[in-house]
Amino acid sequence: MSATIRNLDDLLAEGVSGRRVLVRADLNVPLDKQTGAITDDGRIRAVLPTLGALVSAGAKVVVCSHLGRPKGAPDPQFSLTPVAGRLGELLGAPVHFATDTVGESAQATVAALADGEVALLENLRFNKGETSKDDAERGAFADQLAALGDAYVDDAFGAVHRKHASVYDVPARLPHVAGRLVLREVEVLSTLTESPERPYVVVLGGSKVSDKLAVIEALLPTVDRLLIGGGMCFTFLKAQGHEVGTSLLEKDMVETCRNLLERGAGKIMLPVDVVAADAFAPDAAHDVVPADGIPSHRVGLDIGPETVAGFAAALRTGTRTIFWNGPMGVFEMAAFAGGTRGVAEAIAESEAFSVVGGGDSAAAVRSLGLDEKSFGHISTGGGASLEYLEGKTLPGIAALEN
Ligand code: 3PG
Ligand code: MG
Repeated sequence: MSATIRNLDDLLAEGVSGRRVLVRADLNVPLDKQTGAITDDGRIRAVLPTLGALVSAGAKVVVCSHLGRPKGAPDPQFSLTPVAGRLGELLGAPVHFATDTVGESAQATVAALADGEVALLENLRFNKGETSKDDAERGAFADQLAALGDAYVDDAFGAVHRKHASVYDVPARLPHVAGRLVLREVEVLSTLTESPERPYVVVLGGSKVSDKLAVIEALLPTVDRLLIGGGMCFTFLKAQGHEVGTSLLEKDMVETCRNLLERGAGKIMLPVDVVAADAFAPDAAHDVVPADGIPSHRVGLDIGPETVAGFAAALRTGTRTIFWNGPMGVFEMAAFAGGTRGVAEAIAESEAFSVVGGGDSAAAVRSLGLDEKSFGHISTGGGASLEYLEGKTLPGIAALEN
C-alpha cells in the first residue's frame, strides 16, 4: 500500500485505550431469502483481526456497515440485527446494537460503551446522506457519523470503490488508518497489477460482459491466458458465430466481444461444451451439448465437462499466478454447479498463488465445501477488486492517503 497511508499498527502505537474508534466494515453478507439467516459469514470473519486488536487494546469500538441496497430509509429486511448476533458469537462477547445509525440509539449506545466493548450501528444506507451524490448532503451525514468516533479505521475493502459518506467523507473528518483487511487486500492485489509471476492465468465468469469489460480491457495485455465461463460466455460464443438458444445474451456487446476475441487471439479460451437446460430451474431437464450446437429452445446454465478439463489443464500446468472472479454457472443449483466446482478444484490444486475475487466466487468456494486454505487469498471485494485491477482510483483508498 502507498507509503502515505497509515495503518492500524500506527493507531495502536498511539494508544487507543478509552478512545472511541469508528470502524467502517463491509458486513454486507448474503441472507437466506426465506429465513433471513446469514448464509455466508466470510465477511464478518474477515474483520475479526482488526476488531480483536482494537478490543485487546481497550478501545471503545464502534462498527458501521451497509447491508444490501435499501433506499435511504429504514427497511427491516436490510437490518444488521442478525449480523450483530453473529459478530458477537465470533468475538466471544456481546455486541451492543444501535437501532439507528446516528440518532438517539446510536448516541446512547456509544456513550455507554466500556473500554474494550463493541457496538454495531444500524445499516448506514438507512440514511439518504450515505450514498448521496450531493457533497453537502453526504457531508452532513458524515459529520453526524464522525461525531461518534475519535479515530477512524477503514476495514471495508468491499466498499472502497464507493464514494459514500462512511467511506469517503468520514476520513476527512477524523484521524484515519487502513485496517488489517484493507491492508492485506491491497497488498495482494497490487502484486497482481505490478509484478505477477508468470504464467498468469485469469478466469472470469458471472452473468454480464458489460460488468467485466473494463477489467478484460485492462488485463488482456498483461495476462498469459484468459478463461471465460459463466453467463457472459454466451455473448462471446455468439460473437464467434454460434447460436446460443435462450441463454443469457447481451446483444449490444456482441461486436465488442468479437473485437476482444481478435485482440486476445491465442490468449482467450472459451467453453467448447455447455450444460443446456429446458428452463432456468433446479430440476429442469438438461444435457451436455457442444458450444456450437446449443438447441434453440435451451438455456446454457453451466460450462460442460470437456471445458472444465481444458480450463483445469490451463490452470494446473506450470501456472504461477491465478485470479478468479465469477462463477462458471448457476452453482446455487446442484445440477449446474459442476463447472464452478471443477474450476475451483483445479485452482485449489494448482501450485500457483491464487486470488479469488468477488462475493459470489468466494461464497461458491465455501458453499461447495472447498478448503479456503488451498487458495492464496480470498478477497472480500467483488466490484472493489475488479476496479482495483482496472487501475481505477478507489475513493476509499484515496481518502486514506490524504
Ligand atoms: C458488495 O457486496 O459488492 C459490497 O458490499 C458493495 O455493495 P454495493 O455494490 O451495494 O455498493
Ligand atoms: Mg456489488
